[in-house]
Amino acid sequence: MTSTPLDLDNIQGDILVGLLKNTETYYFFTIGDDVNAFRRQLSLVVPFVTSTTAAMSDRATVAQSKKEALAQGRKPPLIPVAGFNIAFSQPGLKKMGIVDDIGDDGFKKGQFADSQDLGDKGSTVNGKFVPDWIPAFKHAIDGVMILSGETQLSVDKTLAQVKAILRVGAHNATIHEVIKIVGVVRPGDQRAHEHFGFLDGISNPAVRGFDTEKPGQGQVDPGVILLGHDDTSRPAWAKDGSFLAFRYLFQLVPEFNLFLKQNPLRINNLTDEQGSELLGARLVGRWKSGAPVDLAPLADDPELGADPMRNNNFSYSFPNDFSTQTRCPFAAHLRKTNPRNDLFQIAGPKSVEPHRIIRRGIQFGPEVTPLEAHDNRTHLGRGLLFVCYQSVLSAGFQFLQKSWSNNRPFPPQKPQEPGIDPIIGQINPSDPNKVRSMSGTNPNLQDATLDLPTWVVPRGGEYFFSPSISTLRDTFALGAHIQ
Ligand code: HEM
Repeated sequence: MTSTPLDLDNIQGDILVGLLKNTETYYFFTIGDDVNAFRRQLSLVVPFVTSTTAAMSDRATVAQSKKEALAQGRKPPLIPVAGFNIAFSQPGLKKMGIVDDIGDDGFKKGQFADSQDLGDKGSTVNGKFVPDWIPAFKHAIDGVMILSGETQLSVDKTLAQVKAILRVGAHNATIHEVIKIVGVVRPGDQRAHEHFGFLDGISNPAVRGFDTEKPGQGQVDPGVILLGHDDTSRPAWAKDGSFLAFRYLFQLVPEFNLFLKQNPLRINNLTDEQGSELLGARLVGRWKSGAPVDLAPLADDPELGADPMRNNNFSYSFPNDFSTQTRCPFAAHLRKTNPRNDLFQIAGPKSVEPHRIIRRGIQFGPEVTPLEAHDNRTHLGRGLLFVCYQSVLSAGFQFLQKSWSNNRPFPPQKPQEPGIDPIIGQINPSDPNKVRSMSGTNPNLQDATLDLPTWVVPRGGEYFFSPSISTLRDTFALGAHIQ
């Protein structure tokens, strides 16, 4: 644990707090030929960056106004918030002449080169693996700007200001747009639910010395998320930065719903509809309301799902046996990506901590249309702009995807082989079994395995470094531009 308090004015706001958002735009760019011009203009962009302090204050303002409105029986007003963060890839750092070794091979290699090991589908072209990604992510991207706000208008306004500073579109542009992806939270009662319908963003670790830990949440040292805290091997400018793993994940929602409909769990006199809902909950590890199946194994419990003091307070050891799938399948998305007692029991209480990540991100794309629901087929792209922060990519995102989600025997030492994470698991290149499958979907037939279609399709991504604000200003940017 760091003894000095975290410098909240220095750490970008998305990392420890999260930018407040109804909508969030990811603007991916390359740096133009005149790199020094970019670095000069960057100094004028730095004041836009939302710090952790500012992100906390935005949250407090919105929470207070909500509280007041509810007390007075009014609808909470839309409070203007404009969030802005910026991060760079390895090619981006190199272009800026930042060449010190940042000490992370995953970051240095980039996600394109990692895609095969992540299990992304693709083909071999001239002896080289090329993932089935959209073209924008098959070329070098130097950086990403993240802009959030209460409305698209507010995001567009910030984007227009920043683009004007960087002269985007002009003959002397200092950056070029590669792709702009707009994320939007889902409407009405689906707010905070991802596109399959499950409440998301419940479980992130509490950072010691910063967050107050809620029951079952689990704590991490700041150095698990931020560079330059527990490690001495990183360059000084990396302190208070974090690696941002971005994944452009499309979700096949009608196809997911069809599978649940066709495979209802026929137990305990459940109706087919209830049996389908239970199957969905067992694939994720939570009901759509957020209630964990480890605590609510047979029926949803929306009050539990909505209660932050209870909805994370479980450890896969009920009643005191972590070797059954009665309550939660070993391969459920939640259990694969944070195995809790499954690992504590065999590897000690600190065994999961290095692998915790802080998840941000947002949904993209429209709601399922009546036609798609009728056809049971996706016609319009939708999914998750997945973002997570960690100080070591090979312990964080890469580890979760490759060594846990894609790895059939994980969690280890179980009576049945768990199988692949049904939500995000992909086939490792070395896996002789080319079918996504898992055991334990049916609590009464735990040995049985179920083959699973693919419902989450990666179409791009990159690893970025989200530097501290002082590093952006003093190391990445050049002295203020004089008109
Ligand atoms: C479209 C893709 C994805 C969907 C639909 C999805 C859905 C969900 C849902 C519904 C939850 C439960 C809410 C919560 O506990 O906060 C969750 C938790 C989680 N997901 Fe995902 N997820 C996706 C991608 C990923 C990826 C790519 C990773 C990392 C490789 C990941 C890692 C996690 C982790 C670490 C948790 C929290 C587990 C815990 O602490 O108990 N997810 N996800």
